[in-house]
Amino acid sequence: MTAATSVTGRRKVGRPAGVRLAGTGMAVPAKVLTNQELATRVDTSDEWITQRTGIRQRHAAAKGEDVRTLSTAAVRQALGEAGMEPKQLDFLIVGTLTPEMVCPSSAARVVADLGAVPAGAVDISAACSGFVYGMNMAAGLIESGFYKTVAVVGAEVLTRLVDWKDRRTCVLFGDGAGAAILTASDDDQQGLLYQTMASNGDGWQELYVPREESDIPPKAEFSGAYNTLQMNGREVYKFAVHTLEKTIDDALNAHGLKASDLAAIIPHQSNARILESARERLGLPPEKLYINIDRYGNTSAASVPICLHELRSAGRLKQGELVLFVAWGGGLTWSSSLWRL
Ligand code: ACO
Repeated sequence: MTAATSVTGRRKVGRPAGVRLAGTGMAVPAKVLTNQELATRVDTSDEWITQRTGIRQRHAAAKGEDVRTLSTAAVRQALGEAGMEPKQLDFLIVGTLTPEMVCPSSAARVVADLGAVPAGAVDISAACSGFVYGMNMAAGLIESGFYKTVAVVGAEVLTRLVDWKDRRTCVLFGDGAGAAILTASDDDQQGLLYQTMASNGDGWQELYVPREESDIPPKAEFSGAYNTLQMNGREVYKFAVHTLEKTIDDALNAHGLKASDLAAIIPHQSNARILESARERLGLPPEKLYINIDRYGNTSAASVPICLHELRSAGRLKQGELVLFVAWGGGLTWSSSLWRL
């Protein structure tokens, strides 16, 4: 039975005082793909990958694993941590660029798999910025007074979207999902303090997935594999360095904060060199700008929530502390989200 069986509209019940991060979860495929293994498939080496990117291994989805299954597992764990039942979810957002199908959304099927029907469900396509966009949108839904509890997921199976003959991209990406449960709070100190959701579509061709010849930009160096991720690594690198610096500075300046006032900056994991130089510039110790790309590679929209879950599980994020999420990616898009937990 899939039709609406009861009234599913919502009446405004008054705006909450704040928004609380109630739980987090993550899921990665069991299969680990090391740099050494990749070096048997393409002309690369553990040394090149480690030195240029900081990646040592990534997880790769097996048959039957996809955004839907990984997201469902991550949200289940997050709900468990929050002490909530699936039926308490009012809305679920999945940030992904690798949904199973163009229609239906992965989100709608995750809601059904969880037993959370008739919660609202939507996938958002903002590439690596998807989860951070989702956190900002979820905060807005809760602050509107129409929705009380929202799950935000970042999930990808990028190993299915790379060209396994292209060493410039296939070594970079990995699969996984991370989830956060946000809910209305009586504490007006908790919630979103600052956010960015931005794009510049003029730079679309720096990172794109062509479906046919007409999608290829003029003068592009194209390897010939349609439906695989094409990336101009050097241009995206420059964009990432600039965006990371600017979005962090803007968020801090907006509230008169210093980087050391934050419990953690959780950035998208696209290259350890980019993240380490940002950490150095800000004068932060390793634990304050989290890096785990060595274990997961670039998991696109999943990278920020996986970091969030690892930090929270390690007891390194406490109520009342400040945390800043920052991401950038295809579109081009970028996003930041500053929270008091
Ligand atoms: N193994 C060995 N050699 C390689 C490999 C490899 N896997 N890949 C590239 N090379 C070679 C190139 O062929 C080139 O050789 P050449 O000089 O003989 O032509 C040389 O290494 C240098 O290549 P570059 O592309 O210039 O390498 P660079 O130092 O720029 O590193 C990288 C490439 C890691 C991709 C980097 O540019 C990067 O991290 N870019 C940013 C990616 C990013 O931030 N993405 C975020 C968004 S992702 C999303 O939204 C889904």
